[in-house]
Amino acid sequence: HSKIPVIAIDGPTASGKGTVAHQVALRLGFHYLDSGALYRLTALSAIRKGVDPVDEHGLAKAAAALHCHFNGEHVFLSNDDVTAAIRAEAVGNFASRIATLPTVRQALYALQLGFRVPPGLVADGRDMGTVIFPRATLKVFLTASADARAARRYKQLIGKGISATMHDLLKDLNERDARDANRAIAPLKPAEDAYMLETSDMTAEAAINQVLAWYAAIRKRDDSHPAGN
Ligand code: CDP
Ligand code: CDP
Repeated sequence: HSKIPVIAIDGPTASGKGTVAHQVALRLGFHYLDSGALYRLTALSAIRKGVDPVDEHGLAKAAAALHCHFNGEHVFLSNDDVTAAIRAEAVGNFASRIATLPTVRQALYALQLGFRVPPGLVADGRDMGTVIFPRATLKVFLTASADARAARRYKQLIGKGISATMHDLLKDLNERDARDANRAIAPLKPAEDAYMLETSDMTAEAAINQVLAWYAAIRKRDDSHPAGN
């Protein structure tokens, strides 16, 4: 199992994790895990079941009973296509609240490990390199200034015809960053052996190429020094 390569990409909201991880996976022919989607799916499932946001037991049950599947760009909860529904701001906020609960994180743990299948996996989230895949082949931590990230979200939303203001986006992003970085369990922080990539002034394409170059260098090194040497 540990021989199946994993590239772990972590970082704060709108740092480009999804874009970079998805493209790296496509170019390497690897599977892709959007771990944030699992927290969003759990949130949506709990909302639909009417689970109280403070009912930790009910939330953990919703996580453990999560029936979801991914098909290309589409995400399904049971058989319902919820690709757009899980991206709602309210679902993201609920997701970041329930992500502070150890029981919810525990319930989603095995589900995430299951994505590690040949020929390899690119996983993005907050704790891919620190908790879920601590022995990943390559760990990357993406950063960008809050202004740059808010501007990216703004462009994404306007592009989809969703109205937004920079002021509200910055406020929401700062709140979410603080909650993700300060929670007791699996907080957002770079793994000690993560490669840091500051992308405020970098295109997504340049970030993708940097990750691919790091991965190629690691493969080359491992091929010339097989494990154990
Ligand atoms: O997954 P995460 O929330 O970290 O970010 P995302 O959903 O991938 O959104 C990042 C947005 O910023 C996308 O529209 C990208 O095209 C854009 N972008 C980027 O990802 N990386 C850069 N270096 C520059 C822009
Ligand atoms: O799109 P954005 O980067 O804002 O969020 P996301 O990656 O879809 O994740 C939604 C929420 O789930 C985050 O705010 C985190 O609180 C939580 N999350 C987490 O705790 N651990 C992960 N591995 C992924 C997401």
